[in-house]
Amino acid sequence: MFAAALLLCICIWLVIVLLKSGRPKNFPPGPPAVPVLGNLLNLNLENPLKDFERLRKSYGNVYSLFLGRKPVVFINGFHAIKEALVTKAADFSGRPRDIFVVDVTQGKGLVLADYGPFWKEHRRFALMTLRNFGLGKNTMEDRIHGEIQHIIKTLDNNIGKSMSPQVMFHNAASNIICQVLFGTRYEYDDKFIKEVVRCFMENSKIANGPWSVVYDSYPIVRKLPLPFKKAFKNFEICKNLTSNLVNEHKKTRVPGDPRDFLDCYLDELDKRGSDAPPFSEERLIFMTLDLHFAGTDTTSNTLLTGFLYLTTYPNIQERCQQEIDQVLQGKDLVSFDDRHNMPYMQAVVHEVQRVANTAPLSVFHCTSKDTELMGYSIPKGTMIVPNLTSVLNEEGQWKFPHDFNPENFLSDQGEFVKPEAFMPFSTGPRMCLGEGLARMELFLIMVTLLKKFKFLWPEDAGEPDYTPEFGVTLTPKPYRMKIKHREMQ
Ligand code: HEM
Repeated sequence: MFAAALLLCICIWLVIVLLKSGRPKNFPPGPPAVPVLGNLLNLNLENPLKDFERLRKSYGNVYSLFLGRKPVVFINGFHAIKEALVTKAADFSGRPRDIFVVDVTQGKGLVLADYGPFWKEHRRFALMTLRNFGLGKNTMEDRIHGEIQHIIKTLDNNIGKSMSPQVMFHNAASNIICQVLFGTRYEYDDKFIKEVVRCFMENSKIANGPWSVVYDSYPIVRKLPLPFKKAFKNFEICKNLTSNLVNEHKKTRVPGDPRDFLDCYLDELDKRGSDAPPFSEERLIFMTLDLHFAGTDTTSNTLLTGFLYLTTYPNIQERCQQEIDQVLQGKDLVSFDDRHNMPYMQAVVHEVQRVANTAPLSVFHCTSKDTELMGYSIPKGTMIVPNLTSVLNEEGQWKFPHDFNPENFLSDQGEFVKPEAFMPFSTGPRMCLGEGLARMELFLIMVTLLKKFKFLWPEDAGEPDYTPEFGVTLTPKPYRMKIKHREMQ
């Protein structure tokens, strides 16, 4: 009898101990975690964004969750994110190891490289090379305008009809970065581009989906043939395709006269000789894949969101067109510099980025030393999720945080103003490396298309659904838009 009572007491004590979250002393608070599952039951894994907001209301701007046994700190709101990623950048700019996306990409690319010499040198090299492509004869603007002509051709073929813009924008964004990386563009039905875009889109969904959480939370399942294996297969396909392009470039390049990013990197390898590390041919393949992926899904999903709102807010579309007509007058091509004379268009592009919330949880960071944030202690090696969603719709930062309204970026005098809380590209030293290119693409594409076409919501399409599908990037639900020429009005 006594032994049974003792056993029962031990069991109860064990359950209490296990139920306690196991958060270290002064660690950010959060809901109690259950054994094995951690806080997984607190989240809708298909789309946890609403859960993150609910938890913020209960636990404040810095809270923690257990994904299985792994503690993860969520940072919310402008002030906390700025303190971590800018003020304490040296502590918060690492990338986590031993997680799904790092394993899929073998941790050898730039986006997921840890804070250190490899990341630093490759980031500097990539920024400098992108900048150099903006100069000279064939500028970045020329490349973007070249691709826009293909978008126009597709739209011209659909005048009077309704079409889904999804494949068109994905291929266009991919082609712009392909011209920088490989010096070439691909027809929209080309096998290479179709395969790469398919792999990118699938992997983006898998990476922020429930199976990647299972992978991260329970290392024991990693070798099993579960749906996350698809992401490894897709990555291998893209790696082989890119490796073929590198081999072709090695055969056709003229050293010292680079045609594109691949040639620039191969020149850099020549220049460094035996001193090459951390540069290497293998790293070139991974970095190219990173830039291709980072530059495709993000820009195209922002454009998709933009045209979803422009077709369903006709008064905003018309106001943009009035401004475009007035500023460009008879000028054929818009230039990026024209933005300074287009405050309303600028406000619309920024508002589109704010509501598109394309990278809702940024890219995960990691602490590179024991540190403190908002009075809490966070040990080295803790995974950090900067919740950019919480800033892009934060009350107190925006005039209309929950509506689509370009007034969020306009002063009372109608001038363009950019609030500090505008951080769709994140902030701090890990901030998006392609910001300049992305901003140029969004402005030139939106202005050129609005100048030429009118976009309408088809009469039989029902009510628009603005709720995006969750992934590493948010994607608007598939929709169709009707196209007319403006001069036909
Ligand atoms: C609308 C378009 C885009 C959005 C919203 C976006 C957003 C982001 C965000 C939120 C991050 C994570 C920053 C952090 O970890 O704190 C990021 C990183 C990055 N982005 Fe973008 N991005 C866009 C377009 C592009 C383009 C066109 C390129 C390619 C040229 C690109 C290349 C990168 C790279 C290489 C990183 C990793 C930077 C690093 O770890 O140092 N992005 N981006």
